[in-house]
Amino acid sequence: MTQVFSVIALKGGVGKTTTSVALAHMFAAEFNKRVLVVDLDPQASASDMLIGTARVAEISFAGRSVACAFHDPSDARSRWYPCADITERSVGGIHGVTTIDLLPASASLYQEQSGLNAPPPGIPRHGLLSAYLRPVLAQYDIVIIDCPPNFNTVTQNALFASNGYLIPIIPDILSTRGVPTLLQMVRDFSQRTGHLVVPIGMVAVKMQMNSRVHTETLRQLRGLHMMIPVFPQVIPQTNHIAAAAAFGHAASLAHKWGHPAIPGLLRTLCQMISLRLDQISPRA
Ligand SMILES: Nc1ncnc2c1ncn2[C@@H]1O[C@H](COP(=O)(O)OP(=O)(O)OP(=O)(O)O)[C@@H](O)[C@H]1O
Ligand SMILES: [Mg+2]
Repeated sequence: MTQVFSVIALKGGVGKTTTSVALAHMFAAEFNKRVLVVDLDPQASASDMLIGTARVAEISFAGRSVACAFHDPSDARSRWYPCADITERSVGGIHGVTTIDLLPASASLYQEQSGLNAPPPGIPRHGLLSAYLRPVLAQYDIVIIDCPPNFNTVTQNALFASNGYLIPIIPDILSTRGVPTLLQMVRDFSQRTGHLVVPIGMVAVKMQMNSRVHTETLRQLRGLHMMIPVFPQVIPQTNHIAAAAAFGHAASLAHKWGHPAIPGLLRTLCQMISLRLDQISPRA
């Protein structure tokens, strides 16, 4: 059974996209998983990282982005393509890693975010992405949805398509403030829609190991015992990870994300995420 999870936070710039892409690389490179990355952010950062800015511009111009999920196929005014037709294959640029596909984003998602388009009859507004992905889901082991920094209609579509959600957090005071609100909003959404989407965990990212604020905030977060575990794995802030945002070809996972600890960290994170997703919805 395909495992689908959203990477989500209310706050911007907390590492959602970097985490999504790093996990996609690791799941594909070291666990031989067939991975689909769904870029649901109109900023198209995950698409930029996986296929480069020039290709993102072509896709945007051609209207061949995930924004199609929010269009009515029968509406002659909007271009519509099925998911399989607009999926970018074997992306990511790491030598020998061929099992990552991308459903790319484009800026036209901003329009969807403002809720301008009416959903086709019979599909709830939050169920459009789930319906759009359904025909291709069986082709993948893992689907990772990179969300925009908000809780609007587009993000709700991500949750409705997901079994679980992962929250990256920078362990500083302001970045962690919104976490209880987000947990409550997801619980309310689950209750309202009848779709259970389970918290997988929080992962501390962009951690400055020598910062007292970071170490103390992380300690407090672990002590809060919210309904979501805080993974022991912590992703440090490094120049190498910042540079990984640039699309380009890399000889290996380690070259892309940095030596020597990061690939090990990502590997363990993938194992923990898989384990948790298996608990949520055991494989058939
Ligand atoms: N561990 C890290 N070390 C150094 N830089 C990082 C790290 N993680 C992310 N960054 C950088 O921080 C910035 C924000 O990261 P990212 O785009 O992944 O966040 P985001 O939550 O997806 O942002 P948005 O809310 O805009 O979608 C980017 O420039 C990224 O390259
Ligand atoms: Mg992002």
